[in-house]
Amino acid sequence: MGSFVQVKDVYKRYRMGEVTITASDGVSFEIEKGEFAVIVGSSGAGKTTVLNILGGMDQCDEGTILVDGCEVSRYSPKELTEYRRFDIGFVFQFYNLVQNLTAKENVELATQICREPKDAETALREVGLAERMNNFPAQLSGGEQQRVSIARALAKNPKLLLCDEPTGALDSDTGKTILKLLQDTCRRDHMTVVVITHNHAITPMADRVITLKNSKVMDVRLNDHPTPVEEIEW
Ligand SMILES: Nc1ncnc2c1ncn2[C@@H]1O[C@H](COP(=O)(O)OP(=O)(O)OP(=O)(O)O)[C@@H](O)[C@H]1O
Ligand SMILES: [Mg+2]
Repeated sequence: MGSFVQVKDVYKRYRMGEVTITASDGVSFEIEKGEFAVIVGSSGAGKTTVLNILGGMDQCDEGTILVDGCEVSRYSPKELTEYRRFDIGFVFQFYNLVQNLTAKENVELATQICREPKDAETALREVGLAERMNNFPAQLSGGEQQRVSIARALAKNPKLLLCDEPTGALDSDTGKTILKLLQDTCRRDHMTVVVITHNHAITPMADRVITLKNSKVMDVRLNDHPTPVEEIEW
């Protein structure tokens, strides 16, 4: 048995008329179950491309993606839909909440379509929003809205939690509480968490740091003693 997540020689090209952009140029890395992994790189480095392929939102042109022993890269569109629905939790930079539903209804919307969901109230309590369940997104701060989106992702009981710049729209203190929440969840539930960032300051908190540059993996580093988020400054 190999690692929980295996990305092997992945290529993704976008053809735009005469020009071809190679957004993943032979990307390979592995992530172990229960790890807190950070994918870091500057804008355009190919971070979102590889995360979307890993989460079944996009498909690669070449290469292999294995998650929990399943070959995701060979999934049919129907299998990919089920994979996204049952196995993956997504957290986005701008939360992507439904504005005319309350926090609780936003979480329930996600749990209605999956197999063994957590109770929405439990999920919201776990992210510290017990008192705000009946608020609409517009009544919540950015950090609180991101907590709702994390509760929504975690209530699905996913195998893999994928977060694309989850702190990108937040100030640094709020960003730290969100990262701490993600890391605590990783430790408590043995959840495998992947966080994309362009902020190098975040990398000491990760178990594994995958650095992307020009659509390639530049470096993979393991931190034996990750730094608690509280001790990181940016
Ligand atoms: N759908 C698309 N069509 C054409 N080109 C694309 C598409 N998606 C991404 N690209 C290109 O692929 C490259 C990698 O993009 P990607 O979004 O993965 O970068 P990123 O590291 O997530 O950047 P950022 O930090 O700005 O979000 C970029 O050059 C981008 O313009
Ligand atoms: Mg991106």
